[in-house]
Amino acid sequence: MYDVFREKRVLVTGDTGFKGSWLSLWLTELGADVTGYALPAEGGQPLFDLLGLERMIRHVDGDVRDADAVRTAFAEARPEIVFHLAAQSLVRRSYDEPKYTFDTNVGGAVNVLEAVRATPSVRTVVCITSDKCYRNKEWVWGYRENDELGGHDPYSASKAAAEMVIGAYIASYFHGDGAPGVASTRAGNVIGGGDWTQDRIVPDCMRALKDGTGIVLRNPDATRPWQHVLEPLSGYLLLAARLLEDPGRHSGAWNFGPRPGSVRTVRELAETVVRDWGGGDISVKREPGDRHEATLLHLSIDKAQTGLGWSPKWDAERTIAETVSWYRAVHDGESPVDATRRQIKAFMES
Ligand SMILES: NC(=O)c1ccc[n+]([C@@H]2O[C@H](COP(=O)([O-])OP(=O)(O)OC[C@H]3O[C@@H](n4cnc5c(N)ncnc54)[C@H](O)[C@@H]3O)[C@@H](O)[C@H]2O)c1
Repeated sequence: MYDVFREKRVLVTGDTGFKGSWLSLWLTELGADVTGYALPAEGGQPLFDLLGLERMIRHVDGDVRDADAVRTAFAEARPEIVFHLAAQSLVRRSYDEPKYTFDTNVGGAVNVLEAVRATPSVRTVVCITSDKCYRNKEWVWGYRENDELGGHDPYSASKAAAEMVIGAYIASYFHGDGAPGVASTRAGNVIGGGDWTQDRIVPDCMRALKDGTGIVLRNPDATRPWQHVLEPLSGYLLLAARLLEDPGRHSGAWNFGPRPGSVRTVRELAETVVRDWGGGDISVKREPGDRHEATLLHLSIDKAQTGLGWSPKWDAERTIAETVSWYRAVHDGESPVDATRRQIKAFMES
């Protein structure tokens, strides 16, 4: 299935972000001709810069809230395949900037889908939303693609709303002969090398270990399913390949969650990170009255397993070990691009 990307024109929105950088590098490894569209890479050492992606793909600086700019980028890139990842991706920031979050995550999805309508070359669109698009009932069962959407915080609500937008465009415009295949994908928290985003647990741990300060946990008992970034990306690639073959059958929503048993508390994750790094301190500083963030959400992956033949490859232990080994290798002098390519290769061979 990976062969289908050779010499294909692919547009990735959000290529300067964490997942977008991994995906863009993977696509170039598969021989795709990649254009990226996003705001400039942010933060102290963004993975996009560490990988030197600017030299490997055609990157366009642009805002997804700007419908004309999005349409122009599509017209110039003439992509066959689109991965839409650009988003305001942080729950905490969404509380401070709800309008920006809705404009980017909902309005941005509308602008991308409008650009798809205006660009005849497009055959396949994979939109990335989130597991947080589900109304979280704090129950133990896995959420299925036909479960109720909803969100307590602005980020989650924006992803639920983006799902409604995508569903409406599929029902109204993208069906029948000659229509592109369009899908939405829901994955949970991912971890992996090269993420330096503030307010994410693994980057916070890696910064603390690198600088020799202790790891401080705000919410040690929160449980999360931990998944390596390559897992959902492999799902997005497989889904894009299947959408090219049979758009009618594969359009719609897909979960790409970790295998059952990958749920760990934040404290367990931090302890494993410290062990794999080779030492470090952990302390807890609870924030009373901290804003609501849903604590438990588990995705059913039955549809992706039966409908796509997709399955997660790495268990929680390997996921954490590969992540820490990326930071350790780069800390010890390996180039980020070599470390990332090595992990992509190892993943494909797993
Ligand atoms: N990382 C996770 O654990 C996780 C979990 C579930 C869903 N997701 C989703 O996956 C996607 C990628 O996540 P990530 O972790 O790479 O996020 P990230 O924050 O690292 O990257 C976000 C990307 O979107 C771009 N972007 C943000 N606002 C924009 C705007 N107004 N116009 C144009 N570009 C804009 C940024 O420039 C960047 O390229 C997002 O849609 C996110 O919501 C991520």
